[in-house]
Amino acid sequence: MDNSDDILAAARILEAGRLVAFPTETVYGLGGDAENPSAVAAIYALKNRPSDHPLIVHVAPGADIGYWSSHIPEEARKLMDVFWPGPLTLILKRASRIPPDVAGGQDSIGLRCPSHPVAQALLRVFRHGRGGIAAPSANRFGHVSPTTARHVRDEFGEDERLGAILDGGQSEVGIESTILDLSRMESVGPVLLRPGKVGSQQIADVIGTLPIAPDRNAPRASGTLASHYAPDIPAALVPTDKLLPTLVRLENRGCQVALLHFSSLPAERKMALKEEIGLFCASEVYAHQLYASLRKLDKSGADVIVIEATPDTDAWKGVNDRLARAACHGQDIVERLLELS
Ligand code: TXA
Ligand code: MG
Repeated sequence: MDNSDDILAAARILEAGRLVAFPTETVYGLGGDAENPSAVAAIYALKNRPSDHPLIVHVAPGADIGYWSSHIPEEARKLMDVFWPGPLTLILKRASRIPPDVAGGQDSIGLRCPSHPVAQALLRVFRHGRGGIAAPSANRFGHVSPTTARHVRDEFGEDERLGAILDGGQSEVGIESTILDLSRMESVGPVLLRPGKVGSQQIADVIGTLPIAPDRNAPRASGTLASHYAPDIPAALVPTDKLLPTLVRLENRGCQVALLHFSSLPAERKMALKEEIGLFCASEVYAHQLYASLRKLDKSGADVIVIEATPDTDAWKGVNDRLARAACHGQDIVERLLELS
């Protein structure tokens, strides 16, 4: 865990318009001063992210949300009371004083108050707690999000555009925050842009309305692109009943497989797997381990990553969303390989 000197130094780096990676309870963020357009531009450049994909602004506990947003619906206040600090991002109308760069040009703004103690300490000292730290996940665009400081180093190496990496251990939640759009609450209602640990039912219990799915004209959100959170090796998602036959056929084709499974394989069918990780656990534990597992499988040197599908229930929504996006490109490749055999 980093100490207060490191945190103070990191705040000074941010105040100078440079970038700092820091831990949050969801994933590590690549932070810059949200109100400094050149810091925001540096985030897009380092991540190699299209500049029309808005960033989330992280604020300190008790921050004045009216500074960032011109309209705060009653539902937003209730959700902040219950879920902040924590893994819920709210999209609200952006105040005109906030430069549009951080919002990818949208008239809205994404706000989140993280619960990780290092993130909170950084936010409390950065511009005396009155600033906002814009931070996407600290990974190359489209790649697997980092849940340790080591992952961030693996992503960006010693790139001098990254001024510091704060180490706060392994992120507790392990997948990115739930994103709820309340910027058109009066006309459209609450819209769930990205599932996460805070579920739709928990939101409905607080505001009395279940969030709806986004329509096709909704603002672009990188976490909502079909392929995202993806390893470099093609990955495919396979239902439990097809797992064994798929592995056998891949083996027969001379394919080296790295496996992420959720139920145990029959002992008599021991395959020669390049790497094998079994996560036989509840959704929260699975989420906590997911990205570290994908990174490990990605380093295995296998030809394909096979991921056993997890249950299709509410508790698994956030995990299933990430698995589907991780497997988006690889699915076709593996299916073609199987057709050939
Ligand atoms: O858990 C998290 O949310 C992590 C940590 C670091 O806080 N951050 C994160 O950021 O996942 P990023 O950039 O990887 O994903 C942010 C998502 C993007 O899909 C972005 O498009 C969406 O939030 N977003 C942010 N502001 C928005 C806005 N004004 N309108 C629509 N979507 C927005
Ligand atoms: Mg991301």
